[in-house]
Amino acid sequence: MKPLVRRILRIPNRSIFAFIFLFSLSSSCLYFVYVAPGIANTYLFMVQAQGIMLRDNVRTIGHMIRHYTNKNSTSNGTDYLDGTNYTEFTAQSAVYLPENFTFSSQLPCPEKLPFMRGQISINMSEISLEDVYQMFPQDMDIGRGGHWKPTDCIPRWKVAVLIPFRNRHEHLPILFRHLIPMLQKQRLEFAFYVIEQTGTQTFNRAMLFNIGFKEALKDRKWDCVIFHDVDHIPENDRNYYGCGEMPRHFAAKLDKYMYILPYEEFFGGVSGLTVKQFKKINGFPNAFWGWGGEDDDLWNRVHYSGFNVSRPEGDIGKYKSIPHHHRGEVQFLGRYKLLRYSKERQYLDGLSNLIYAPNIVIDRLYKNITVHLVPELAPVRDY
Ligand SMILES: *[C@@H]1O[C@H](CO)[C@@H](O)[C@H](O)[C@H]1NC(C)=O
Ligand SMILES: *[C@@H]1O[C@H](CO)[C@@H](O)[C@H](O)[C@H]1NC(C)=O
Ligand SMILES: *[C@@H]1O[C@H](CO)[C@@H](O)[C@H](O)[C@H]1NC(C)=O
Ligand SMILES: *[C@@H]1O[C@H](CO)[C@@H](O)[C@H](O)[C@H]1NC(C)=O
Ligand SMILES: *[C@@H]1O[C@H](CO)[C@@H](O)[C@H](O)[C@H]1NC(C)=O
Ligand SMILES: *[C@@H]1O[C@H](CO)[C@@H](O)[C@H](O)[C@H]1NC(C)=O
Ligand SMILES: *[C@@H]1O[C@H](CO)[C@@H](O)[C@H](O)[C@H]1NC(C)=O
Repeated sequence: MKPLVRRILRIPNRSIFAFIFLFSLSSSCLYFVYVAPGIANTYLFMVQAQGIMLRDNVRTIGHMIRHYTNKNSTSNGTDYLDGTNYTEFTAQSAVYLPENFTFSSQLPCPEKLPFMRGQISINMSEISLEDVYQMFPQDMDIGRGGHWKPTDCIPRWKVAVLIPFRNRHEHLPILFRHLIPMLQKQRLEFAFYVIEQTGTQTFNRAMLFNIGFKEALKDRKWDCVIFHDVDHIPENDRNYYGCGEMPRHFAAKLDKYMYILPYEEFFGGVSGLTVKQFKKINGFPNAFWGWGGEDDDLWNRVHYSGFNVSRPEGDIGKYKSIPHHHRGEVQFLGRYKLLRYSKERQYLDGLSNLIYAPNIVIDRLYKNITVHLVPELAPVRDY
C-alpha cells in the first residue's frame, strides 16, 4: 500500500517541480523579452515577423558580431566584408559649395552648403530649457514655437519637426541645442511640435505623430514632415532634413545598434515624408500601443503605396542615443498580428479615423500639444 501511495504522491510532486521550473524559466524569458528593448527585441522581431528574411538577418547579426570582435584585426579592413558591399562607407564624395559662396535672397537655398562640414560635436550633458533659450535668443529670428526661416535665400523645404513625448523633459533641451544649429546651417524653414501623451495608456508614438501632423498643418503650409524621436541626436550636419521623391529614413546608423542597420526594413528613430506622401499612405497606424512595430507598419504602408525608402549614404546617417534608464517602456506584443494585416488596415486606420482633443501651449522653441490618448480615439471597422 505504502509504495503505491508514495508513487501516487511522488509523480505529481515531481511534475509540480517540473512545472514550477519550466514556468519560471519561460516567464523569466518572457520578462526579458518584455522589458529589454534594443538588439534582443530587434532580433526577436526579425525572427518572428519576418521568417523569410531570417537568412539575411543572421548575416547582419553576424556582421555586428564580427564588426565588434574584429575591429583591430582588420587593419586592411577587408576581412569582414563578405557578401555585403561596404564601399558605401566611403561614398561621401558629394561636392559641397565653397566657403566664398554668395547667397541670393531671390534664389532657392542650395542643399549642399559650405557650413555643412560633417561631424557635429555632440554634448550629451543635461541642460535646462532656459539655458537653451539663452543659446537661441529671440533676436536670432527664432519665432514662437521655434519657427525659423532663412533670409539670405528661399528655403527649399518647409519642415515641421514632430517629436512624440512623454516624461523625458531632460532630453528635449539636448535635442534642441543640436538640431537648431543644424537646421539653420541647412537653410531649411522649420518649427518644432512636441506632442505629449497624458493618461494611463502605454505610449503610442504613432498616434502622437498623426496628431502632430494634423496640428502642424493648421499652422502653415509645411511641405515636409520629420518624425523625430526625442532621444536621437544626429552626428552629421550633412544629414539634410529636407524631403525628396521618396520617403526618407534619416537614422540609418544608430550607436545603439553599433552603427549597423539592424534590418533592411528598419524605419525607426528619425524618418521624413512629404505632406503629400504622408497623406497618401494614410499616416501612421493608430493601433500600436507600447514599444515597437509602428515603424515597421509605416515601412509597409510606404511600399504598398508604391514608394521606396531612401537613406543617407555612409556615415551621414549616424545618430547617438541619449542614454536613459528604461522607464517602464512596455513592449507591444500584439504588433506581429497587426503587422500581418498591414495592407488590410492601411486605409482603415491612420489619419482617416482619428478623433482627438488637444491642449495647445505655444512655447518659445516648440508648440506643446498635449493629448489624452485612449484606443477609442481611433475606431477601426472590421476587416
Ligand atoms: C585595438 O587598437 C587600439 C588602438 O589601435 C588599441 O588601443 C587596443 O588595445 C586594441 N585592442 C585590442 C583588443 O587589440
Ligand atoms: C591584410 O593585411 C595582412 C597584414 O597586415 C596581410 O597578411 C593580409 O593578407 C591582408 N589581407 C588582405 C585580404 O589583403
Ligand atoms: C560595390 O558597390 C560599388 C558601387 O556602389 C560597385 O562599383 C562595386 O562593384 C560593388 N562591389 C561588390 C563586391 O559588389
Ligand atoms: C572662391 O574660392 C575658390 C577657391 O576656393 C576660387 O577658385 C573662386 O574663384 C572663389 N570665388 C569667388 C567668387 O571669390
Ligand atoms: C557641454 O554642455 C555643458 C552645459 O552647457 C557645458 O557646461 C560643457 O562645457 C559642455 N561640454 C563641452 C565639451 O562642450
Ligand atoms: C523601388 O525599388 C524596386 C526594387 O529596387 C524597383 O523595382 C522599383 O521600381 C522602385 N520603385 C520606385 C517607385 O522607384
Ligand atoms: C506641455 O503643456 C502641459 C500643460 O498643458 C505641461 O503639463 C507639460 O509639461 C508641457 N510639456 C512640455 C514638454 O513642455
